[in-house]
Amino acid sequence: MFEIQQGAYRDRYLQLVAHRPGGRVLEVGCGPGWLALELGRRGQIVEAYDVSPGAIAVARQMLAENPFTGGFGQVHYHLADPTQADLGVEQYDAVHGWSAFHHLPDFRGFMKRVMRALKPGGIVATMDDYPRRQLEVNVQRFLGLVLPTTERSYADKLRAVGRRLGGRTVDAPEVFSPMEQEKYTTVSDIRDVFSNEFELVLDVPFNAFAMGVMPLLAGPDWWRYPVARAIDALDKLGCRSGIWRANNRMIVSRKAR
Ligand SMILES: C[S@@+](CC[C@H](N)C(=O)[O-])C[C@H]1O[C@@H](n2cnc3c(N)ncnc32)[C@H](O)[C@@H]1O
Repeated sequence: MFEIQQGAYRDRYLQLVAHRPGGRVLEVGCGPGWLALELGRRGQIVEAYDVSPGAIAVARQMLAENPFTGGFGQVHYHLADPTQADLGVEQYDAVHGWSAFHHLPDFRGFMKRVMRALKPGGIVATMDDYPRRQLEVNVQRFLGLVLPTTERSYADKLRAVGRRLGGRTVDAPEVFSPMEQEKYTTVSDIRDVFSNEFELVLDVPFNAFAMGVMPLLAGPDWWRYPVARAIDALDKLGCRSGIWRANNRMIVSRKAR
C-alpha cells in the first residue's frame, strides 16, 4: 500500500538527494536506516544521525545484513544529535530528514548551519508531517466505517458510531509526545525556509486520509488493491487541487550554485 501511495514520490526524492555520483549526504533522524541504505545503494556516502539508541542498533544490524553490496557507497551511523554536531563548511552534497525535521526545536538555527555545510548546488530534502483538519479526519472515519476493514467488525463500527453520537468518545490528540510539542510551528517554518532561502525543486502534498484506510482494507487482493488505488487517486486529486489538506509533504530545494 505504501508502494501504491508513495513509491514514485520516494524514488524521485532519492534520485534528487543522490544527485551527485559518490555524493556525501547528511541524514537527520535516520531511525532504523531504510533511507540511508537506499542512498548507499545509489553509491552515496551517508552520515546518518539519530538520538535513539534502539533505532541506531537496528540500523547497524540492518547495515551488517545488507545484501546489496555491488556499487554500495558507505553508511556511517552516529548516535548523536546533528544539531549539536560540527557540520563544517561546504562538506555535503545533500542534507535530508524523512519525518524528522519537525522534531528539531531550533529548526531555523539548524538550517542556517545546513546552508553553510552544503556545497554550492547542494540539496535539502524533507518529507514531513503536517496537521490535518477535521474534514480529512472525517473522510478517513467515513471510509473506514463503510468499507470492510481488518481491525473492526461492522458491529464494532456501529457501536463506535453510537458512542460518538452519544458524546462518549474522546479523540487522542495529534501531538502525542513531548518531542512533538514544536511540531505545528516547525512544519510551517520548514515550508518557509525551503521556499524562501533555497530554490524550490519539488513540493508534493499527499496523504490527506488515504493511509488511514488503505492498509486496513479487508478482503481478497483482487478487491483490496483496486479499492486502495481508487482511494489513493481521490486523495491525490484533492491534495493537488487544494480540496484536501495533506498530512504529508515532500519538499526538495537547492542551494544556489
Ligand atoms: C518519525 S521518526 C522517522 C525515522 C526515519 N527517518 C524513518 O523514516 O523511518 C523520527 C526520528 O527522528 C529522531 N530524532 C528526533 N529528534 C532528533 C534529533 N534532535 N537528532 C537526531 N534524531 C532525532 C527520532 O529518534 C526518530 O528516530
